[in-house]
Amino acid sequence: MLDEILLILADGDFHSGDELGSKLGVSRAAVWKRIKKVEELGLDISSVKGKGYRIDGGLDLLSKEDITGELDKQVVSCISRLDLHSTVASTNQLAMERAISGECGYVCLAEQQTAGRGRRGRTWVSPFAANIYLSVVWEFAGGAVALEGLSLAIGTAVVKALKALGLQGAELKWPNDVIVDDKKIAGILIEMVGDAAGPCLAVIGLGVNISMPKLAVGQIDQPYIDVNSLVDKPASRNLVVSVLLNHLIPLLKDFESKGFKAYKDEWLAAHAYQNQEVFLRLGDGVEYGVASGVDDNGAIVVKTSAGLKRFSGGEVSLRKAESLS
Ligand code: BTN
Repeated sequence: MLDEILLILADGDFHSGDELGSKLGVSRAAVWKRIKKVEELGLDISSVKGKGYRIDGGLDLLSKEDITGELDKQVVSCISRLDLHSTVASTNQLAMERAISGECGYVCLAEQQTAGRGRRGRTWVSPFAANIYLSVVWEFAGGAVALEGLSLAIGTAVVKALKALGLQGAELKWPNDVIVDDKKIAGILIEMVGDAAGPCLAVIGLGVNISMPKLAVGQIDQPYIDVNSLVDKPASRNLVVSVLLNHLIPLLKDFESKGFKAYKDEWLAAHAYQNQEVFLRLGDGVEYGVASGVDDNGAIVVKTSAGLKRFSGGEVSLRKAESLS
């Protein structure tokens, strides 16, 4: 639940201590304590004598009503439940609990994650009301094999959603980083519950940088960029969530029957390093070559001095060869 004070201050206008106290039904001292809590979320509050308190720039808060209002009908019918949270450790962690109880179609979002998870054990920096932290639970009857290439296919859905929101230049870096000008704008983390051979539930976690605050500089260990610095007219985060779900859910519905093959051309069209010299960091070494695309299962194909080689799995990372120097 969001603290009610945030809902009042979200408009970016000044509100006096008296006004806040009477709206919230608490004393001025209690208002002050709640303002301190808001500051602890990393939000900038101006406090001006005679005027009161203001969140500089206001807040673009998540709203269930606004999100569902823009969802396609067939998408609504696939969602078993949509939860919005204020602060959580990780939306993927919450969704994993739902996946364990078999809740296909569960969707959750949070304003802030305190332990956001990235791929390969990284942390996903998740400041309050700034970006999108979204997780979806989906069931796949065919187990882990049915998931081959899923994370790549989801990348294509994210690129299309961003295009629909006015961002043209998003590309994919294998396996599923969404980048603009070589800087990360969105990340996808898939976690699994269940039998690798039989039916399993996947948690699809998606983080999209919308308006990364300056305080995040120094916390993020890779070049990054956000949507609002790239589009002419930033959309509300609620609309961004709806557009993402309108692209993501139909893909999840179709993926098992179609397989990655059906999304391969779209992936290649968005591939940032196609036919460029790259190196792959493997578990204990590095492989050099020219990125020659992906195969029907989503493995990356690299033309090396020893011929064409395919690589799959989470431990492979790809960099432009020039960044070696
Ligand atoms: C990556 O490292 O590229 C994947 C990042 C995935 C981040 C998202 S944010 C919502 C969901 N919850 C998490 O804890 N992680 C994913």
